[in-house]
Amino acid sequence: MDYALALLIGYLSGSIPFGLLLAMAAGKGDIRSIGSGNIGATNVLRTGSKWLAAATLLLDFAKGFVPVYFAWTLFPGTPDAPLWYPMPVELAALGAVLGHCFPVWLKFRGGKGVATNAGVTFALAWPLGVVYALVWIAVLAIFRISSVAGMSAVAAVAIAAVAMGFWSIAGVLIVIAVLIIWLHRANISRLMKGEEPRVGSKK
Ligand code: G3P
Repeated sequence: MDYALALLIGYLSGSIPFGLLLAMAAGKGDIRSIGSGNIGATNVLRTGSKWLAAATLLLDFAKGFVPVYFAWTLFPGTPDAPLWYPMPVELAALGAVLGHCFPVWLKFRGGKGVATNAGVTFALAWPLGVVYALVWIAVLAIFRISSVAGMSAVAAVAIAAVAMGFWSIAGVLIVIAVLIIWLHRANISRLMKGEEPRVGSKK
């Protein structure tokens, strides 16, 4: 029961499509018909509004952080559990990312989960959140390509969770990393053709 409730709470929180709602409220139209068609902050930036993109980033982060934070409080779990041992807090984390990527309200066609997974990671273990943020910022500063920064951060944090001994939550971070990289397959194909836009480009 704890597991199902944690998954549901995470999913419902993650499924709120803030990028779509904010862009519509600001009169920018349907974000799904702009740029990459993604509902995340990178694509909201392509509307030309930095404020809207920053608000989307913050809210997409929060919808991952909040349910996982509460899941720790409601269902403390076993902090020293092994890699394969599922805990309610891990299901809240997975639920939040699944909710963002496959929201029932948008016929299961949502975003790619990078910002929501940042919130999830900070709530699961703040040192891993710091790794996530540092890798994301550093790679973005070097390459200026959001998808490269996002995929690097999700992969790095899954590896760091194992390397730093966060066994109880490493499993879910690995599953999420695989999912997020798979959701970036169109970006990967553009990267291989040298066609992936840099941050700030309107394409
Ligand atoms: O977080 C999404 C980002 O990694 C890629 O976004 O719009 O360029 O596909 P986009």
